[in-house]
Amino acid sequence: MSEAILLVGGKGTRLRPLTTFTPKPLLRVGGVPFLTHQLARAAAAGVTRIVLATSYLAELFEQEYGDGSRLGLELVYVTEKEPLGTGGAIRNAADHLKSGPGEPVLVFNGDILSGLDIAGLRAGHWASGADVSLHLTRVPDPRAFGLVPTDADGRVQAFLEKPETAEEIVTDQINAGCYVFTRSVIDTIPAGREVSVERETFPGLLRSGGFLRGVTDDSYWLDLGTPTAFVKGSADLVRGLIDSPALPGATGEALVLPGAQAHEQAILNGGTVICEGAVVEPGAVVEGSVVLPGARIAADTLVHRSVVGRQASIGTGSVLREAVIGDGAQVGPHNELPAGVRIACGVELPAQAVRVSAPIAA
Ligand code: GTP
Repeated sequence: MSEAILLVGGKGTRLRPLTTFTPKPLLRVGGVPFLTHQLARAAAAGVTRIVLATSYLAELFEQEYGDGSRLGLELVYVTEKEPLGTGGAIRNAADHLKSGPGEPVLVFNGDILSGLDIAGLRAGHWASGADVSLHLTRVPDPRAFGLVPTDADGRVQAFLEKPETAEEIVTDQINAGCYVFTRSVIDTIPAGREVSVERETFPGLLRSGGFLRGVTDDSYWLDLGTPTAFVKGSADLVRGLIDSPALPGATGEALVLPGAQAHEQAILNGGTVICEGAVVEPGAVVEGSVVLPGARIAADTLVHRSVVGRQASIGTGSVLREAVIGDGAQVGPHNELPAGVRIACGVELPAQAVRVSAPIAA
């Protein structure tokens, strides 16, 4: 048996309004709920039992996955009444683990798309005798992240806050949101209160002389927490830049799911997904976008790196760039929305209500 905890209880505020009715891990990425990719990758790496640490919109997870047998997994659901933070959620979920004190337990953030060798991280943890092994990834611009420097043997030396000066950028390694804990270490996290694993648990373990092992690799890595990253992750899956056993079709420029209707005179590219029940009319150009179930994209629209929510509609001749359109929203014909706009669920925008002044570059 190999066990894991998956943290899926966050509110996903940075992805509003997409997360108003759907928790971030259940949003469709590459045609299926994002969590399906993570569960399939974990199963492929030999994980057999997963405790899902839920809180926000908790009941939707069990509705989607049941006992997990469809994915060859045993799934157990644990719900926090109030969100306990990452560390508190791990501690709370641990009551439902079967692993013994010396056994390794994988922990995944529920919003990271990565090509990590999960089995390798677990095997290396076992062999090293570490208390915790952390997957680290290198980023080109580390200023927006807490940094995790390691020594030549991979021992974590510190957990540093976001750097404010050039001198403080001592490494380009950041926490990649996947860990292996020796089970007994989880049991030392305080129960029943909010705990951040990044700010409290890991620094505390270092101070008390714990062995935290950092494993840095160059595999694909993306935190899907923002709309820009969300559409990129979906497009990368569709285009095959990151493998997933759960992709519901062949890789290519677009994925049109069964039950979707995309007119042959519509242009779909850049890793676009059209989900079931969605309709794309002739002359529409949909680039690198996610069109959720039941949405309608009318004729002669341009939808560029955007997300169109469930049952939302985009009227004839409208232009969206890096937009997020909430579930059920209706953008009337001939609107040209400013790049990066977010439209709340159910909002109705009349025809020609918005036109950005500058022409939109292709
Ligand atoms: P934002 O609100 O946009 O920051 O997103 P988030 O709520 O998902 O927070 P964040 O991206 O920091 O969370 C990282 C991972 O931990 C995600 O998979 C979350 O679902 C999960 N998570 C965060 N807080 C909690 C919590 O209190 N309980 C549980 N069970 N999971 C959590």
